[in-house]
Formats: sequence, structure tokens, C-alpha cells
Amino acid sequence: MAEPRNRYSIVSLVFHWGLAVLILTQILLITAHDATEGPLSREFVQIHKAVGLTILVLTLARIGWRMANPAIPLPAAMPRWEKIAARTTHVLFYVLLIALPMSGWAASSAGGRAIEWFGLFQWPLLPVERSRDLARSLMGLHGAGVKLLYVLVALHVLAALKHQFINRDNVLHRMIPLIPRRP
Ligand code: HEM
Ligand code: HEM
Repeated sequence: MAEPRNRYSIVSLVFHWGLAVLILTQILLITAHDATEGPLSREFVQIHKAVGLTILVLTLARIGWRMANPAIPLPAAMPRWEKIAARTTHVLFYVLLIALPMSGWAASSAGGRAIEWFGLFQWPLLPVERSRDLARSLMGLHGAGVKLLYVLVALHVLAALKHQFINRDNVLHRMIPLIPRRP
């Protein structure tokens, strides 16, 4: 029998780390927006929107890739509840990485604010009702989604550290092949 795959493909690694960097960029851009005023501050939000929509497109591509390339099995020694928790977190990440950009996009559309994709072209607005209240509620959802994202990232990173330093298995090596594989 062929040995089961025990490492993510290069495409999966690029998707994982590329998107993680883009998400961090999003938070830094909002921090820069909060710390500045005037046109510069507004420019940071414009870039935040363009990066966010790029995250949406990349996440859809990533889900397509993931459906064509099923997950590699988690370590057999992992308790069932941990496997369920891990997979649930991963699914929630995918859901959030669609819901967050969609809520931002819908809020900009309800607010009638044009979106420029890195100054290259106008990103179309969604056909939603023009309403300040709707825009505000959608931004509320955006903010709530961000909080859930923080919780998930914290759980995800703690779980990765637990695998590395407590379980001492190869889970982190699968996502960071530079970390030596344990026998
Ligand atoms: C995965 C993608 C995204 C992430 C991780 C993200 C993250 C964030 C964060 C952390 C904030 C600050 C929230 C707060 O202070 O409560 C924020 C605010 C905001 N986001 Fe996003 N966002 C994403 C996508 C988008 C997109 C696609 C748009 C619009 C097209 C957008 C529009 C906005 C706007 C307008 C604000 C408020 C900025 C202000 O304070 O005036 N976001 N986002
Ligand atoms: C915003 C940041 C991050 C997001 C959104 C994210 C998202 C994800 C998702 C969706 C998967 C599942 C991949 C699949 O479909 O099979 C995954 C797997 C993984 N992530 Fe992250 N991740 C982030 C940051 C990190 C960080 C900082 C670490 C390391 C400390 C990490 C370590 C891992 C590992 C080890 C796996 C593989 C689990 C397995 O073998 O099944 N991630 N991540």
C-alpha cells in the first residue's frame, strides 16, 4: 500500500502562508489608518479594501484547490475530539475568509463608496440597497467577524505549539517543512 502523504504540497503551503501574511497586512493597514488622518488615512482604507478583495479571490481559489486535493490525515494518535476541533477551526477559517471580505464589500456598496483595486480598475459594487444603516450593520458584522478571526488564530497557533512542544509530532513540520521531521 502506498505510504499516506504526510506533508502539504507546495501549492497548499503558498496558499496557507501567503494568506496568513495578507491577513496580517490587513490588520497592519487598519492600525496605520487609525494612527493617521486625512488623505493618507483614507488611502490605507483603500489598500485595505483592495487587499481584502484579493484575499476573497485567493480563498475561493484555495477552496477549489483543497476540494481537488483532499486533506492529509491527522496523526492517528490524535484524540477524536481534537481532530474534530482542528477540522472545525479550518472550516471556520474558510467561512470567515469569505464572510469578512463580503461584509466589507457589501458595506462599501451600501455606503455607495467606490472601490479601486490598487488604482488599476474600479471593483464593481454589489447590488445592495443604498443605506447608511445597512452599511453600519454590515460594518458591525465585519467587526464581529474580525473578533472571531482573532479567537480562531489564537486557538490555531496554540494548537500548533502544543503539537510541536507537547505532543512532539510532525504536524508543524507539515506546514513548515524547514522544521526537521521527527522520526
Ligand atoms: C479577510 C479580509 C479582511 C480582514 C482580515 C479585515 C480586517 C479588518 C479589521 C481588523 C478592521 C478593524 C475593525 C475594527 O476596528 O473594529 C477592519 C475595518 C474595515 N474594513 Fe476590513 N478586513 C477585510 C476585508 C475588507 C474588505 C474586502 C473591505 C471592503 C471592500 C473592508 C473594509 C473595511 C472598512 C471600510 C473598515 C473600517 C475602516 C474605518 O475604521 O474606517 N475590509 N477590517
Ligand atoms: C491568519 C493566520 C492563519 C490562518 C487563516 C490559517 C489557516 C489554516 C487553515 C485553513 C488550515 C487548514 C488547511 C487545510 O485545509 O487542510 C491550516 C493548517 C495549518 N496551520 Fe494555519 N493558519 C494561520 C496561521 C498559522 C500559523 C501562525 C501557524 C503556526 C504557528 C499555523 C500552522 C498550521 C498548521 C501546522 C496546519 C496544518 C494542520 C494539519 O496538518 O492538518 N497556521 N491553517
